[in-house]
Amino acid sequence: MKEIGDNEIHLMITSPPYPMIKMWDDIFKSAIPEVKVLEQQMEEETDKSKRENYVSKIYSLFHKYLENVWKETYRVLVDGGIACINIGDATRKINGIFRLFPNHSKIIEICEKIGFITLPYILWKKPTNKPNAFLGSGFLPTNGYITLDVEYVLIFRKNGPRKFPPKDQLRYASKFTKKERDVWFSQTWNIRGEKQNHSEFIRRTAAFPEEIPRRLIRMFSIIGDTVLDPFLGTGTTAKMAMELQRNFLGYEIDEKLKPIIEKRLDINQMTLLKEDEIEINFLKRN
Ligand SMILES: C[S@@+](CC[C@H](N)C(=O)[O-])C[C@H]1O[C@@H](n2cnc3c(N)ncnc32)[C@H](O)[C@@H]1O
Repeated sequence: MKEIGDNEIHLMITSPPYPMIKMWDDIFKSAIPEVKVLEQQMEEETDKSKRENYVSKIYSLFHKYLENVWKETYRVLVDGGIACINIGDATRKINGIFRLFPNHSKIIEICEKIGFITLPYILWKKPTNKPNAFLGSGFLPTNGYITLDVEYVLIFRKNGPRKFPPKDQLRYASKFTKKERDVWFSQTWNIRGEKQNHSEFIRRTAAFPEEIPRRLIRMFSIIGDTVLDPFLGTGTTAKMAMELQRNFLGYEIDEKLKPIIEKRLDINQMTLLKEDEIEINFLKRN
């Protein structure tokens, strides 16, 4: 994120491609050529236990790719700035064995190494209407698997709490109500996924519901702050930041999403902001 200077961002909110979830395999594989080589070697390996080493190497490489972004986030955040990462764990059968890839704990481990302070996180409970998701033999013990029906919103801070001048007007103008605080600062959030109202294309982008960044922005930033989303997708965080009078910076690698982002942000009808205050940069894949 070389376009952003050190200590310029007050809040980062994002949902990256999830390691070991099939829909994101291509993104990781095209960014990390080593993965294809490892997959090839794994296929040629006849010893099942040796093949396990390749599984863990590939999983680590996926996280190494995301680690670059977490490191950059740490650099661009102000002291006391917050990073919120929405991530789900993954289940997958590889090398003939069904298992869990606990993405949330891997990210916590990596972010702590970078220097972030880990804060209590949110469990986003999605209503599940898939009673048949049970993977096991009917009602017989012992080989059933738990259905994943939460995602995580991990929360990290750069150094100690942010400092404000006494009676800071913008901070006071940004306050939440008691009712909001009681719901938002509890650990479980029951929020519907964003599937119903969108086209097939948007569904495939794995957009999170607007309520997620809306709450996080109100909880962890004040009016006039700058919010960053390094994996913009359809621009949900951007839309909420603008609605809540925060500045916004974002990155998205997939050019096909550009018209969707522009439409969601109403860029052509923008009257309050001058045109040159809005800039969408698309990264070129090397
Ligand atoms: C889970 S989606 C984000 C969804 C978003 N929160 C929303 O509400 O629409 C992850 C996004 O990251 C993008 N992406 C993956 N690698 C990237 C990279 N290196 N730089 C920028 N964007 C990237 C993908 O194209 C995808 O749109």
